[in-house]
Amino acid sequence: MNNFSFYNPTKIIFGEGQIASIAKEIPVEARVMLAYGGGSIKNNGVYDQVIDALGERIVCEFSGIEANPEFDTLCRAADAVNEHRITFILAVGGGSVIDGVKFIAAAAQYNGDRWDILTKGGKVIQSAVPFGSVLTLPATGSEMNSGSVVTRSAMKAKLPFGSPHVYPQFSVLDPVTTYSLPIRQVINGVIDPFTHVMEQYLTYPVGAHLQDRLAEAILKTLIELGPETLAQPKNYEVRANVMWCATMALNGLIGSGVPQDWSTHMIGHELTALYGLDHAQTLAVVLPANLRVRKADKLPKLVQYAERVWGITEGSDEERAEAAITRTEEFFRNLGAGTRIEDYDLSADVIDVIIKQLESHGMVKLGEHRDVTPEVSRKILETAL
Ligand code: NZQ
Ligand code: ZN
Repeated sequence: MNNFSFYNPTKIIFGEGQIASIAKEIPVEARVMLAYGGGSIKNNGVYDQVIDALGERIVCEFSGIEANPEFDTLCRAADAVNEHRITFILAVGGGSVIDGVKFIAAAAQYNGDRWDILTKGGKVIQSAVPFGSVLTLPATGSEMNSGSVVTRSAMKAKLPFGSPHVYPQFSVLDPVTTYSLPIRQVINGVIDPFTHVMEQYLTYPVGAHLQDRLAEAILKTLIELGPETLAQPKNYEVRANVMWCATMALNGLIGSGVPQDWSTHMIGHELTALYGLDHAQTLAVVLPANLRVRKADKLPKLVQYAERVWGITEGSDEERAEAAITRTEEFFRNLGAGTRIEDYDLSADVIDVIIKQLESHGMVKLGEHRDVTPEVSRKILETAL
């Protein structure tokens, strides 16, 4: 196992009715910014529960944080934080709202050019306004990690940043809030955590037995419950388990002491920035192709994945690996996600454009061995057509 340090200060408050408990988590004298997205929280009762819980506190609302949150919008929110002397931000929504609030919290206290936060990957952040979250879309893991992804459409850029200053202080996970999710977002909420696990598990063996078993447990739970969460939107037990899988997939635990890949994500971010695919749709396209192109390099882990996750025990190592990749792609397709570039009405012409963007964002040495060069990314995209 590789050396590691594991730190995660986010308090998770899980279960039905738990939104009320934010009353105990936010100081009574706080000046609160309530940040949310396009208004889904007003239609499913979450907004009312949050307002009740905030009670007499001074609350300033900032709505309209987009899916794939926009730099300009977030900068306006950061200005509002300073203008209204906000001391606590509450993010209510999915990964985009929580990611957006991470940026707002840091940008409000950053005196330089706010674009630096993204181009320098968060390294310039020295402090942030404290914040918590009420999660309504389990998928990204943002509720219990220190990462965020921000889009600047004008530059066709979607860039990640991270900082220990942007862990949420707490996150409320009430599975009932997910009952109102549209099918497409439920599908996304299975594929995104599945791929998060794969980015941390499907690399090369380092003797991290527990991390491997934890990763396989999350994958198997998602395979078992993914179709059920689609078929039974109000099954509390199923929704609760999928929700917890999504958090556990990217809170640092399974990624401790193991190599990590993340090339599927970085290639996927360009697809979203250029063509507007949902984050998880890009992963459904890139992951199977990525595993196919890099099969020889990832063979020992693919064989382990084939046997332990899919029960594939017949054939040569190469055949088992290929069968496991096919099962992965079928799993995504059966959930209802397109797994090919052409499923999203795009053609081979997009490949040159994506490669150019990867180069301009410095995404030229990706993967656990830093050997996913633009040429390899090109092969991956060609395989995904
Ligand atoms: O805008 P609202 O009204 O909130 O509607 C949202 C949005 O339209 C809606 N929604 C959320 N909860 C709902 C609901 N609709 C009905 N009922 C509910 N309970 O769903 C739509 C999509 O929401 P969004 O937050 O964009 O989705 P998701 O959670 O998938 O977040 C995607 C963003 O997170 C980033 C992605 O790149 C993307 O920008 N990621 C963040 C990560 C992190 N911080 O660690 C890691 C991920 O890999 C990912 O990159
Ligand atoms: Zn993701």
